[in-house]
Amino acid sequence: MHLSALAAGMRPSLLRHLLARASAPGVISFAVGVPDGELFPREDLAAATAAVLASPPGGLQYGVPLPALKERLVELMSLRGLSCRPEQIFLCSGAQQGLKLLGELLLGPGSHVMVEEVAYDGMRIAVSAENPRLLSVPTDPWEGIDLDALEERLAAGARPAFLYLIPEGHNPLGCSLGLAERRRLIELADRFDLLIVEDDACGLLHYEPVAPTLYSMAPERVIYVGTLSKILAPALRVGWLVVPEALIAPLSMLKQAMDFDTSTFAQHLACAFLASGRMGDHLARLRDEYRLRRDLVLAALETNFGPNARWSRPRSGLYVWLELPGEIDSEPLLETALEVEKVAFCPGSIYVVDEVDRPRSTLRLSFGGVPADLVEEGVARIARAARRFEEERGKEAVVCIPSRNPSKS
Ligand SMILES: Cc1ncc(COP(=O)(O)O)c(C=O)c1O
Repeated sequence: MHLSALAAGMRPSLLRHLLARASAPGVISFAVGVPDGELFPREDLAAATAAVLASPPGGLQYGVPLPALKERLVELMSLRGLSCRPEQIFLCSGAQQGLKLLGELLLGPGSHVMVEEVAYDGMRIAVSAENPRLLSVPTDPWEGIDLDALEERLAAGARPAFLYLIPEGHNPLGCSLGLAERRRLIELADRFDLLIVEDDACGLLHYEPVAPTLYSMAPERVIYVGTLSKILAPALRVGWLVVPEALIAPLSMLKQAMDFDTSTFAQHLACAFLASGRMGDHLARLRDEYRLRRDLVLAALETNFGPNARWSRPRSGLYVWLELPGEIDSEPLLETALEVEKVAFCPGSIYVVDEVDRPRSTLRLSFGGVPADLVEEGVARIARAARRFEEERGKEAVVCIPSRNPSKS
């Protein structure tokens, strides 16, 4: 069979492969960016499901995007300090489909998309069919996008169709953009007529006060991407875009070609859950639980890794970015970690847009799916794997703190 150039050119997803191996019994997995299934509000969702099915046609019919759900999402976003009208909400099958649709809406032959040097890989996959040129901007794992570099590129004439950014709870870096940086970014967007796609997948999972969304600072410059995946359940596949009303019709046409509509059942279910008024308590519980895990990860990193390692300290989201000394390549390290220590993480290389000049010694630790009582042991296993990796290569152990972290070997 003759495959399209797009399909033939696709590399098998390392993440999918990892998901399979990392879910083997006994493995503590920081690999995949999943929320904890134990925290899904199953009873409330069961009640919402019963209520939806009890009223014919019970969300089982084809349907138009549910106006009531849009209203509930407007309320949800007000918790994020974002104000918009239901007519601006475009429902999609997860944020991922929203990104794909934006690619189809905004990109054409020869288009450019600006991304950080280390960026959510799902975004690159989402726009791969349009094959835009990716203009990467340096980014700092601790501070986020380098605005001087961005300004330089824009001043030099770069005119991307949009800049893709995760200002809050960055995946994979775990950083958040400060208020002053957000202001400067908006100034640049105004000056250079730049459209920003703000991916806020984890924006409601914050553990400390956060800066306002870019959308709320400059609605005319920003398209907002939201999702219920991390705060309710990814299997619902309910996401949304906040766009100028004029874009709803073309987006709807593009979406029709994909799946007609976001699962009507999921829309009704999400709407019933949000209407039940339980989201506030649920979010508070999620924040408490994930804050605890974040704190445990950071404490365990402190205990197990020496001064040669650095990591981000997320104030929101589900990810910590760990940089080990340069000679440790995190891809083969993962093999050691899985085989010997039964622990998994995601090699940072997956997220690197231009591989030149970026250390291959980076790891993304996704702590959302790791139960609190396993976090410390999981991080200790990573440190032991790194130490063994160094020992096997005849290097002096510089990664972990040996006195505080006796090696198993
Ligand atoms: C930053 C970011 N954007 C988008 C998505 C896709 O989310 P969804 O499940 O809503 O498609 C994810 C999923 O992990 C994500 O981390």
